Amino acid sequence: MKQNGQAVDVAIMAAGKGTRMKSRLPKVLHRLAGRALLQHVVDTAAGLNARRVVVITGHGAAEVEAGVVHPGGGLLQFVRQEPQLGTGHAVQQAVPALPDDGIVVVLSGDVPLTEGTTLRALIDACGGDKLALLTIAFDDPTGYGRIVRAANGEVQAIVEHKDASEAQRAIQEIYSGIMAVPARLLKPWLAQLDNKNAQGEYYLTDVVKFAVAQGVPVVAHKISDALQVAGINSPVQLAELERAHQQRVARTLMEQGVRLADPARLDVRGELLCGQDVEIDINCIFAGRVELGEGVKVGAHCTISNARIGAGAVIHPYTHIEGGFAEKERVEVGAGALVGPYARLRPGAKLGDEVHIGNFVEIKAATLAKGAKANHLAYIGDTKVGERVNYGAGSITANYDGANKHTTVIEADVHIGSNCVLIAPVTIGAGGTVGGGSTITKDTAPGALTVARAKQVSLSNWKRPEKKK
Ligand code: UD1
Ligand code: CA
Repeated sequence: MKQNGQAVDVAIMAAGKGTRMKSRLPKVLHRLAGRALLQHVVDTAAGLNARRVVVITGHGAAEVEAGVVHPGGGLLQFVRQEPQLGTGHAVQQAVPALPDDGIVVVLSGDVPLTEGTTLRALIDACGGDKLALLTIAFDDPTGYGRIVRAANGEVQAIVEHKDASEAQRAIQEIYSGIMAVPARLLKPWLAQLDNKNAQGEYYLTDVVKFAVAQGVPVVAHKISDALQVAGINSPVQLAELERAHQQRVARTLMEQGVRLADPARLDVRGELLCGQDVEIDINCIFAGRVELGEGVKVGAHCTISNARIGAGAVIHPYTHIEGGFAEKERVEVGAGALVGPYARLRPGAKLGDEVHIGNFVEIKAATLAKGAKANHLAYIGDTKVGERVNYGAGSITANYDGANKHTTVIEADVHIGSNCVLIAPVTIGAGGTVGGGSTITKDTAPGALTVARAKQVSLSNWKRPEKKK
């Protein structure tokens, strides 16, 4: 994005230790709504069409650098801050990576829910020639940098809590940690920072003093939505922000007409797109990109990732749908299909319209055409199933020979009895029937009944052995 022709460059501070997470995992890699905290921030930065996205790493640098990606496949730049001497010192490390002609937006890798619209408003407030600070008023501002204003309301300084006087501590307006500032102003200010303060750190917030001294206007863009500036320091805060975020997602879905049995018991860890009259029962988890067509019903306790569910389909309780991100791996469920309870659809399961998949049925990399049914206790993998096929309880496709996967083809209108093993590669001809308990190793002719099991034998008057005395 450009402001008066000026490009936007983003610097994300992510070098801090995150001691209070009490975790081996670097703080910014902990997940909120299924994405690393830092990934949220990177995605937001990319959404601004930032020219450069520079991430400042330190603690767990290698792991952090490997743990995030540019969503548009663009370049993320990493600079390292070692040791960590404060937020001003952090941004100093990014100076070589920030061109002089841009507006720099400073973000923190542990503040995941800032919205793009808020940052755009902040960039507008900067306007290419001012220092713009994102601020908010808190009932309890303890710990934050206070926004100190002159009698006429102009911002004069940010004073850190530990350096603040009693009077300053009474100020409720705080600095969020997010600013937008022209690089050509920021760079000389960064060069002047010192660490003569209560924490012995180089404070980025001291740039406000320099701006004021130089007559550069300082504007506070004040918002009221605390979630957007909430930082994560502990597992408790992470869980609280997760819940607050999920409730917001739930509210948005309900406003679109989705009926949630209980908005407090929904988790969306990705993108959930719903048609009209979708109903979702309690404790469902949606991950990746999930599309629910018109009138879809999802029962309680389902987990659904990367799937497209057609209009009117019903997903009964405790069903696991585990699609992959790529088109081939995505799970598709046709219109009017019935799935579950306790069904498992793995990557590449493609169910046509009105397919029925019942309890304890697992489908992997298989296409089931319209009206096919597998109602109980079955496995179908690497298989093409034709229309109206009925696949019996306990039957499986033996698709793996220990080295390679092979394909099974079951043509239209076939009936597979119970407890059959179809050893791939094998084709069951259209309209054929496979007798229960058969192990099928050779292709079968269309319309034929095929039975491949030992003949039943009965010995009359059979005497059971008796226990020896
Ligand atoms: C900072 C602000 C404070 C503001 C608050 C909002 C300063 C001096 N103070 O305080 O005014 O109210 O954020 O949350 O900027 N980081 C580094 N390297 C460092 C130090 C920090 O990368 O050397 C990173 C941290 O990992 C974190 C971010 O910078 O992501 C903010 O650091 P933090 O220590 O949380 O700043 P605060 O003291 O809370
Ligand atoms: Ca902080």
